[in-house]
Amino acid sequence: MTLSHSMLAMEIVAPGGPDVLKPCSVPVPVASHGQIVIRLAWAGVNRPDALQRAGAYAPPPGASALPGLEGAGTVVDLGPGVTRWEIGDKVCALLPGGGYAEYAVCHESHALPVPEGMGLREAACLPETCFTVWSNVVMRGQLKAGQRFLVHGGTSGIGTTAIQIAKALGARVFATAGSDEKCKVCTDLGAEEAWNYRTRDWSHLMRKAGGADVILDMVGGGYIERNIKALADDGRLVQIAFLQGARAEVNFAEVMMRRLTITGSTLRPQSDLMKARIAREVETHVWPMIARGAFKVVMDSEYRLDQAPTAHWRIETPGHVGKIVLKIED
Ligand SMILES: NC(=O)c1ccc[n+]([C@@H]2O[C@H](COP(=O)([O-])OP(=O)(O)OC[C@H]3O[C@@H](n4cnc5c(N)ncnc54)[C@H](OP(=O)(O)O)[C@@H]3O)[C@@H](O)[C@H]2O)c1
Repeated sequence: MTLSHSMLAMEIVAPGGPDVLKPCSVPVPVASHGQIVIRLAWAGVNRPDALQRAGAYAPPPGASALPGLEGAGTVVDLGPGVTRWEIGDKVCALLPGGGYAEYAVCHESHALPVPEGMGLREAACLPETCFTVWSNVVMRGQLKAGQRFLVHGGTSGIGTTAIQIAKALGARVFATAGSDEKCKVCTDLGAEEAWNYRTRDWSHLMRKAGGADVILDMVGGGYIERNIKALADDGRLVQIAFLQGARAEVNFAEVMMRRLTITGSTLRPQSDLMKARIAREVETHVWPMIARGAFKVVMDSEYRLDQAPTAHWRIETPGHVGKIVLKIED
């Protein structure tokens, strides 16, 4: 297939606020060995994109400098050695960067088929959150059916995904969020209880409910000590971001006496091989949850690609619930 040489993209012209995202014309990426080129129809917007835009989350070596960690569309070119896909296949993919563009390139093993019955718009919102939640909550945190799971930021893209996946696994789910309305969204999604962190002592309430076997936290700061108290014996705290800061004063005696585990990870810098492993687990375990209606994308809003600055304003203000997506192709 002959591709055009240049494409529309949104680039970060300097570290800063949403207005540093500007339209540009750049060369269409070329597929190297084992890679595919996708004509993107939609791209998901995630908080790490905003961190990258602000200069706080640099792309890993070799990745596109353009923002955008996930998208969905049609495979339009195959690099040497590709076996998993054919031109014309509809896929959604975890991208190393470069999703705010008409075309993106990724390793063939990081793309998944668009789930049966789902449109490209919803599918574009799956990879970043599903890979992050599955790898941290299940592979790292070892959440099992019947265990208690607490997620902070329950109405975030990550939170809405984590609540549904944990529930579908058979866990008892608890969540925190910043308003009573958001807490209602969390219980509607399957949380047994959701606590407004502005008015409720969630750490105490989690302990009263027996303590959490796994906590997924993106807040950090003052939450770290309170998370430790909220864990059940042998509990696991998995840290995926530090919205309130990465430093805390912690009594580690509790970690020792109650056999707690504190861990965490970031998805983007991990090896192609590790991301491929996560992709296979997501396809094996999460795609069937989607097929049986146990997991749906909670959609907040959509914008055109050139409205990416507005999408970033939206994700950085408290109003949104669920995922924000960019429309790239009509
Ligand atoms: N480690 C990784 O690989 C990885 C991958 C993807 C995302 N992440 C991180 O996961 C988080 C969620 O990502 P997302 O894309 O789903 O973003 P998002 O939808 O913007 O979610 C951010 C959430 O954080 C909550 N929040 C913000 N400030 C808070 C505070 N001071 N105290 C308590 N809650 C606060 C907000 O909830 P309220 O409005 O209810 O306050 C909001 O729901 C981000 O921090 C992102 O960087 C990490």
